[in-house]
Order: sequence, then structure tokens, then C-alpha cells
Amino acid sequence: MEIKNICVLGAGMMGYQIAQLVAINGYDVTLVDMDDTIVERALDTINGNLKKFFVDKGKMSPDEMDAVMGRIKGTTVLKEAVNGVEIVIETVSEQLALKQRIFKELDEICAPETILASPLPL
Ligand SMILES: NC(=O)c1ccc[n+]([C@@H]2O[C@H](COP(=O)([O-])OP(=O)(O)OC[C@H]3O[C@@H](n4cnc5c(N)ncnc54)[C@H](O)[C@@H]3O)[C@@H](O)[C@H]2O)c1
Repeated sequence: MEIKNICVLGAGMMGYQIAQLVAINGYDVTLVDMDDTIVERALDTINGNLKKFFVDKGKMSPDEMDAVMGRIKGTTVLKEAVNGVEIVIETVSEQLALKQRIFKELDEICAPETILASPLPL
């Protein structure tokens, strides 16, 4: 299976960094969280990081940065976010019951071949 589209569920510390990394590496990524403010803050942080650590240091052109940002979409609607993705990387808060609920839901709404990934806990 070719991987082209990735969903990152949870736009906190881990989530925005993974979204940033995969977008830099050419993947389309949808970043999901519970409310718009969190999603917007994550996108702003990524935008700031790309400028500070890549463009300002001459490692990326402004056009490349625009292309990276163009590969990242933010949403609060999980069902839409997992549509057509090959991998879902969950990075929600470290609470067992929440993770169990999230994986149950992902199991129900993702295509059967979708890879579901989770970081090791802190
Ligand atoms: N921060 C690290 O250095 C680090 C390192 C290794 C592993 N981890 C693991 O990564 C995971 C995330 O850690 P973090 O530091 O990014 O946490 P965080 O608290 O910064 O972010 C978690 C995000 O999940 C969101 N969230 C919670 N419930 C949700 C739901 N139902 N739907 C959508 N979004 C939801 C929260 O709003 C929050 O933005 C944890 O399992 C943690 O153990 C973190």
C-alpha cells in the first residue's frame, strides 16, 4: 500500500510536531482535535516553526514553506479526517479510557486496511 495521506488525531505537543514532520516529507496530513482553537493554535505553531527553523535559516524557501503548509489541513471532524487516509496516528492525551474509546471509534470509521498507530507513552 502506498502511503500518501495521514491523519494525526490530537493537535497537542506530539500531534503538531508529527503533522509538521510528515508534511515536510511530502505527505498530505489532516490534523484533528476537539475544538477549532486548538487546531488553529497548532497550525500557527507549525507556521511559526517552519519560518523560524527552516526559512529564516535558509533551509527552505518561502514557496516550499507555503507548499508544506498547503499539505496540512486542520479539522474537528474525525470522520471526515480519516476518509481516504492510509495511516491514522493518534496522539490524544495519555488517558487509557480515552485511548480505548478513540481506537473503538477509529475501528468503526476507518477502512479495514488503515494502519492505526500510537506513540509510546511519555
Ligand atoms: N510530549 C511528548 O514528548 C511525548 C513523547 C512521547 C509520547 N507522548 C505521548 O503522545 C500522546 C500525546 O502527548 P502530548 O504531549 O502531545 O499531549 P497533549 O496534551 O499536548 O495533546 C493531546 C491532545 O489531544 C487532544 N484530545 C484529547 N481528547 C481528544 C479527542 N477525543 N479527540 C481529539 N483530540 C483530543 C487534546 O485536546 C490535546 O490537544 C500521549 O499518549 C503521550 O504519552 C508524548
